Amino acid sequence: MAKTRVGIFGAGYIASVHADILANDGRVELVDVADMVASNATRLANQIGDAQVGSELEDLFRMDVDTVYITTPNTTHVAPVVSCLERGLNVFCEKPMATDAAGGERIREAALASRGVYNLGMNRRYAYTHDKLKTLIDSGDLEAHSAQLKLNRGELLNPPWTADPNKTGGFLYETTIHQIDLLQYLFGPVATLRCAARSAISASEFDDFSMLFTFESGTVATLSSSAHSGWSFPFERVEIYGRYATATTEELERIRYALDLEQVVKTEDYTHIPFAEKGGYAEENRLFINALQNGDKPPVDVNEASTLNLLLASIYESARDNREIDFTARRRETIG
Ligand SMILES: NC(=O)c1ccc[n+]([C@@H]2O[C@H](COP(=O)([O-])OP(=O)(O)OC[C@H]3O[C@@H](n4cnc5c(N)ncnc54)[C@H](O)[C@@H]3O)[C@@H](O)[C@H]2O)c1
Repeated sequence: MAKTRVGIFGAGYIASVHADILANDGRVELVDVADMVASNATRLANQIGDAQVGSELEDLFRMDVDTVYITTPNTTHVAPVVSCLERGLNVFCEKPMATDAAGGERIREAALASRGVYNLGMNRRYAYTHDKLKTLIDSGDLEAHSAQLKLNRGELLNPPWTADPNKTGGFLYETTIHQIDLLQYLFGPVATLRCAARSAISASEFDDFSMLFTFESGTVATLSSSAHSGWSFPFERVEIYGRYATATTEELERIRYALDLEQVVKTEDYTHIPFAEKGGYAEENRLFINALQNGDKPPVDVNEASTLNLLLASIYESARDNREIDFTARRRETIG
């Protein structure tokens, strides 16, 4: 099998996480790195060995790559993703897919017409804590009757662009997208949603959210997310309640669960596992390359990504209009 020839567009923080993983995958050849800041491209190329360096997406096309990682900032994903798909290239794009419903629809149309494979990078699914939750639920050991999730950020001050919704698309697209994706990954399709939000500190966007979801599976869940709440541990948590059973995650570090009233509470602690493994980055890349090499389903395909994108837009709409949204109907109308 020929190696997957990868180009990376956007050579910042998360690109270096993916590049380190790909550099250790014998099925991959890292061909080219492009960034509008030349020193960023050079630094990443040096980090991974002998990749070529460019400044534009077209530089990757000239190097005959078959797969492109899009790792530029949030509001700059749609145009390069569509360009790659129109050329029949495979795409791994970091979250978010887009920062509005129309952008997600443009990508979905391009992906459905392309021979290239589209995948959205949602590493949290494969974090050890969440992988354990998924195994408990799918095995039937934990029936998720209800759940409460939270994902807070310490502040939107560092770096300063995190406070600019023109760059992030909004706090939910920047941060809370991870827990919103987990909701559907763990509990299945959302049936209805309602969100109340306020701008407690930010001048230009909602920064505190309380959300209520019902699922077609019957599960009910709440998600609370605050942008300026400090960094006290754990700022990220999933808590699931079942039949005399509870499972709770603390950050990506630990999970505690008890599956019966008289059972010992079990703890798994991943503190010593390397970040790229316990954070799910290694697994999402393995699964993506499997999809390209073996024809497997990519980990977060374009329909799942589109549903997530529509869900985010619908949560903001619910907050703005102060009303519940029938998401089952909306998803069927838009995505099928
Ligand atoms: N899954 C995760 O855990 C995770 C973590 C961090 C970031 N991300 C996502 O990854 C993306 C990148 O975030 P980051 O933290 O690596 O940002 P970053 O600022 O460290 O890197 C972005 C890079 O893109 C380059 N760039 C910006 N616009 C460009 C353009 N038009 N053409 C070419 N290069 C351009 C910048 O020069 C920079 O080198 C964001 O969408 C972010 O949401 C995901």
